[in-house]
Amino acid sequence: MTEAFDAVDVIVTKRDGGRLNDEQIDWVVDAYTRGAVADEQMSSLAMAILQRGMDRTEIMRWTKAMIATGERLDFSGLSRPTADKHSTGGVGDKITLPLAPLVAACGVAVPQLSGRGLGHTGGTLDKLESIPGWRASLSNEEMYAQLEEVGAVICAAGSGLAPADKKLYALRDVTGTVECIPLIASSIMSKKIAEGTGVLVLDVKVGSGAFMKDLDMARELAATLVDLGTDAGVVTSALLTDMSTPLGRGIGNGLEVTESIEVLAGGGPADVVELTVVLAREMLAGAGVTDVDPAEALRDGRAMDVWRRMIEAQGGDADAPMPVAPHTEEVRADSDGVITRMDALGVGVAAWRLGAGRARKEDPVQASAGVFLHKTIGETVRKGDLIMTLNTESPGRIGRAQVALAEACDGEGAVEIAARGAERGPVVMDRIGTAT
Ligand code: URA
Repeated sequence: MTEAFDAVDVIVTKRDGGRLNDEQIDWVVDAYTRGAVADEQMSSLAMAILQRGMDRTEIMRWTKAMIATGERLDFSGLSRPTADKHSTGGVGDKITLPLAPLVAACGVAVPQLSGRGLGHTGGTLDKLESIPGWRASLSNEEMYAQLEEVGAVICAAGSGLAPADKKLYALRDVTGTVECIPLIASSIMSKKIAEGTGVLVLDVKVGSGAFMKDLDMARELAATLVDLGTDAGVVTSALLTDMSTPLGRGIGNGLEVTESIEVLAGGGPADVVELTVVLAREMLAGAGVTDVDPAEALRDGRAMDVWRRMIEAQGGDADAPMPVAPHTEEVRADSDGVITRMDALGVGVAAWRLGAGRARKEDPVQASAGVFLHKTIGETVRKGDLIMTLNTESPGRIGRAQVALAEACDGEGAVEIAARGAERGPVVMDRIGTAT
C-alpha cells in the first residue's frame, strides 16, 4: 500500500512548531494503528506534540481520528437518557461505585466503561473484583440489556473502542509523554465519545495525588475536555476537585468497596458523600432531570437497591464480606495536635506498595491490601493515637510502604501534626462547562 504521507515529514512539521493539517492527522493516527508508522516514529511525534502543543482544531481532529479507528456504541434506543462520569484518577477515589447506582436510581442510565489501576491511582474494575463472582467483561448486548433493566453498568471497556488510544497510551507510558494536555484530553475523550453517552461529567483532580498538581494546569485540561465533548454533541461539564488528601478513609480495593457500601447505606465519610451527591446532581442536570434529589435517594435506600441489582447482574455476591488482610501494621501519632497534612500521593504510594495496585499491566492486585485512615486532615490526635492501619497479604511489603509514608513531601512525611491547624479545604474547587 502506498502511504499518503511520510511519517518523518509529519514529525518534522510538529518538531519545528508547525500545525498538522486534517489529512496528516487522519493519516498518522490510522497508519500508527495499522502498524505502518513505527513505535519510534510515533514516540518522536508524541514528544514533539508534548513540547510544541496543539491548537484546538488539531486536538479535535486528533480525537476524531482516534475514534475512527474503532467502533462507536449507541444508547439512543434506551428508554431513558444516559450520563457518565470520568475521573482523571486519585487516591481513595471510589466515587464511581456509589455514583452509578445513585444516578440510575434517579432515572438516568449510567454506562460506565472503566479501567484498571496503574501506578498509585486505583482502578474501578480492580475494586469491584474484590466482590466474589463479579465479572468485568460484558458483551455490548449484555451491557445494553443491563442498562435497560437495572439502569447502571460498570464494566471493562472492550478492545473495540478507540484502539489507537490503547496503543498510543501504552507507548506514552514508556516514553515520558503522558503529561501532555492535548494527548491526555484526546485519549480520554476519544473513549468517552465512542462510548456514546449523552451527558459526560468530568472529575478533574488537582493536587499531589493527581496527574495535575496545580490548579491552572487542571483548569486548562478541564476546558480542553469540555470543548471536545461539547463539539462532539455530548453535554459536557467538569468539576475541579481536591486530591491533595485521599478521599474518604479506605484506600485499597476491598476497603473502598466497604466504604462505598457505607455511603449507599446512608453513612460514610462526609467528603465521599459530598462528592458523590455533587457529581450526581451534575449528571442529572445534564440529562434534564432536576426534580429528584440524589441525597434523598442515598438516604432512603433506593441507590442501595440498584447497587445490589447491578452487582448481582454481573455475577457478584452483594452480601459477601470483603476479604480481611492477614497482616497489618499500625501507624500512631508521635505528638499531640491537629493533623495538618495527610498527603494523597504518599498514602497512595503506600497502598500501592502494600499490594493494592500494580507496577505492570499484567500484575495481580490484592483485594484486602491498602491503608485505612482512622484520622485524617483537620482531626485532633493525642500522642499514641492510631492514625492509620496498613493492610497486606504479603508482610514483606510493609517496610516499603512505611518508607513511602516517611519520604513523601520531599522527606517531610505524608502526615504532619501541628499544635493548631488546617481544616480540609473545599472538595469541589471549581466548575467548567454549560450543563447545569
Ligand atoms: N487517562 C486516559 O485515559 N488517558 C490519558 O492520557 C491520561 C489519563
